[in-house]
Amino acid sequence: MTNAASAEKRRISVLGSTGSIGRNTLDVMSHLGGREAFEVPAITGMGNIGLLVEQAKQTGAGFAVTADPDLYAELKSALAGTGIEAGAGPSALVEAGLRDTDILLAGIVGIAGLAPTLAAIGGGADIALANKECLVSAGDLFTSAIAQGGGSLLPVDSEHSAIFQVLEENQRHAVERIILTASGGPFRNHTRDEMASMTAEVAAAHPNWSMGIKISIDSASMFNKALEMIEARHLFGLRPEQIEVIVHPQSIIHSMVGYSDGSVLAQLGAPDMRHAIGYAISHPRRASLPVERLDFAKLARLDFHAPDEVRFPALALARTAMERGGLQGAVLNGAKEAALDAFIAGRIGFLDMADIVSATMDRLDDGRQATAIEDVYAADREARIVAGAIIAELGARSRARH
Ligand SMILES: NC(=O)c1ccc[n+]([C@@H]2O[C@H](COP(=O)([O-])OP(=O)(O)OC[C@H]3O[C@@H](n4cnc5c(N)ncnc54)[C@H](OP(=O)(O)O)[C@@H]3O)[C@@H](O)[C@H]2O)c1
Repeated sequence: MTNAASAEKRRISVLGSTGSIGRNTLDVMSHLGGREAFEVPAITGMGNIGLLVEQAKQTGAGFAVTADPDLYAELKSALAGTGIEAGAGPSALVEAGLRDTDILLAGIVGIAGLAPTLAAIGGGADIALANKECLVSAGDLFTSAIAQGGGSLLPVDSEHSAIFQVLEENQRHAVERIILTASGGPFRNHTRDEMASMTAEVAAAHPNWSMGIKISIDSASMFNKALEMIEARHLFGLRPEQIEVIVHPQSIIHSMVGYSDGSVLAQLGAPDMRHAIGYAISHPRRASLPVERLDFAKLARLDFHAPDEVRFPALALARTAMERGGLQGAVLNGAKEAALDAFIAGRIGFLDMADIVSATMDRLDDGRQATAIEDVYAADREARIVAGAIIAELGARSRARH
């Protein structure tokens, strides 16, 4: 039984409410009864103050926070007279995580989501986890914090939600492997030469899913799948060799679990994040959700291909990070975030991202283990510094050529 199952009105705080996951979450909540069914102790955003204010008023949120301290005055004045408290900056984000809630929906993008999510875990909330960077970077520390906090960890990533849904709790010993499906992204059929010249705008145009820009580009490079492999390892307690990836362009099978008797159980659905979000925030019940129902006669076929690890080296990097262990997950993620920002800013090419992450992981492969969360932040900072230096070198070389 989760915390949330016992409450009359579910209290759900939404970190990253102005993003793609956050907007979908509020949409599902409004479909499931809105203010009649839910209380919203806190919501957070960053730059989109107009939407944050609108959401705070619509949900009757207790506390609305922008991560950007420079936007505090704007937020405070827009909320004046509403009774909704305003906050800004990293400490207010943590305070949002600490507000008493049944479920915290972790929908901030990047490692910025770790501190407020840990704060909520400490308070015993159930965590509906979209922010995969928490598990990738903090790994065992994150899962131990959940165990100590007493709440449940409810995956929101559609792949992990699928596994969670088909994992038979009393048959965990019989799990041979999990198979994460990947759409293959917009460059599934591109050559490496073609990929080399792709811009952020093209890379962000995902064929099946509508998501934030960063995860969309991560899907194009398959870094999203790499993060999901590491996330799955920690969520389900698997060995690296038990985690497989298969390209499935239709994104109808969201992932599968293979058992020792040869059976493979899959979860299928339309590619709509409101399913996984609705499943997590309604757990342990199944709610009626406003998602398209599958018409198998129209679908007609489902395709599968082995991923091409030459064009998509991110998958091998995930395996390396899992095998090396220690702080390599935090290093992979920190370097990836730095490289992704540089790609979005037009400072490096699409294929440079994997090279930068790989070089950073090698330079920081010192076998260090994380004993406290500060170690994770330190590894993240170090990875960004090393990756930043490599990005600067690449920039200098490219200027010298022209
Ligand atoms: N989108 C999906 O379908 C999907 C699926 C599975 C997993 N996920 C995961 O869910 C997370 C969110 O993804 P998304 O696609 O919803 O991202 P997104 O659309 O970019 O939204 C990110 C949210 O975080 C806020 N934010 C951005 N930078 C921040 C910072 N430094 N500190 C605090 N808040 C910050 C944004 O605020 P503003 O918009 O106000 O600036 C927004 O509310 C990611 O970890 C992603 O991997 C997403």
